[in-house]
Amino acid sequence: MTFAPAQSCRTVPLSNGLQIPIFGLGTSHDGGYSHDTIVYALTECGVRHIDTAKYYGCEEKLGNAIAESGIPRSDLWVTNKLWPADYGYNAAKKACLDSCSQMGVKYFDLYLMHWPESSRPGCSNRKVRAETWRALEELYKEGVCCAIGVSNFMVHHLEELKEDCRVVPHVNQVEYHPFQQPHHLMEYCRQEGIVFEGYSPLAKGQVLSNPTILQIAEKYRHTPAQICIRWSIQNGVVTIPKSTKKERIQENCQVFGFHLEESDMAALGSFHDGRHVTWDPTNVE
Ligand SMILES: NC(=O)c1ccc[n+]([C@@H]2O[C@H](COP(=O)([O-])OP(=O)(O)OC[C@H]3O[C@@H](n4cnc5c(N)ncnc54)[C@H](OP(=O)(O)O)[C@@H]3O)[C@@H](O)[C@H]2O)c1
Repeated sequence: MTFAPAQSCRTVPLSNGLQIPIFGLGTSHDGGYSHDTIVYALTECGVRHIDTAKYYGCEEKLGNAIAESGIPRSDLWVTNKLWPADYGYNAAKKACLDSCSQMGVKYFDLYLMHWPESSRPGCSNRKVRAETWRALEELYKEGVCCAIGVSNFMVHHLEELKEDCRVVPHVNQVEYHPFQQPHHLMEYCRQEGIVFEGYSPLAKGQVLSNPTILQIAEKYRHTPAQICIRWSIQNGVVTIPKSTKKERIQENCQVFGFHLEESDMAALGSFHDGRHVTWDPTNVE
């Protein structure tokens, strides 16, 4: 059975009026890359939102998969990320244009600063972030990036950037799953008009064996992965699960035809234990 594309096109509005699809496909290097699976996700599962980063090392391969899928560029949402080694005004502009050319696209729907820490010795993180953000603001004005944002930024990073920037980030992409729910940061983003996007929605698989989640999955006759993805979506959080397997992508997309009751949402909401499965930016100055 193939997935009805219209459902995965449910969107969340950004402050500049663009609509980001609430469901996307992750492509991080962890666990490898499968060309056939990406093409399958695009052509058979209705996936229209792809999340990648220069750091994942698959830009060219993804560009090939997008081309092979035959999906028009204008029907896709492509997010890419700038790695700290490319921070700084000139380096950031060059890296973005290089990434476009690696992927064979003219623009990114969303371009993010991947991590709040700079790798430049002798210069404060804040100064490098501000200088880099200025380059993203220009890329945004030039239309190379339709929206710009940050990733792994905590409230203190966002507060500083607010003083240093003209364009407020459209998105902050942060780790989010039942074990990691940064409520204070989410509330801050909501107040500032920054869309909160959650990565590692399955906690890299760690949530899938939780006994309560297994029970909830049985109740709804869905899988634990579907329950966790649905939970993110019902919380209004843009979510980007990754799989290298066709059948799992098909499964992960089937999250729009059911609704979790309030008590089950609350049960999942009670699992926060603060763990990070990727990296923790809390102490980055
Ligand atoms: N901005 C950042 O700093 C940042 C950091 C981390 C991640 N991300 C983004 O977020 C995306 C998702 O996060 P993630 O890749 O860390 O973790 P994730 O999506 O939480 O989990 C991926 C893992 O779960 C497995 N999986 C997927 N669907 C499954 C299913 N239905 N049943 C059982 N296992 C399943 C995958 O294995 P198989 O491949 O074998 O199916 C993989 O090992 C990334 O790919 C990346 O695009 C961004």
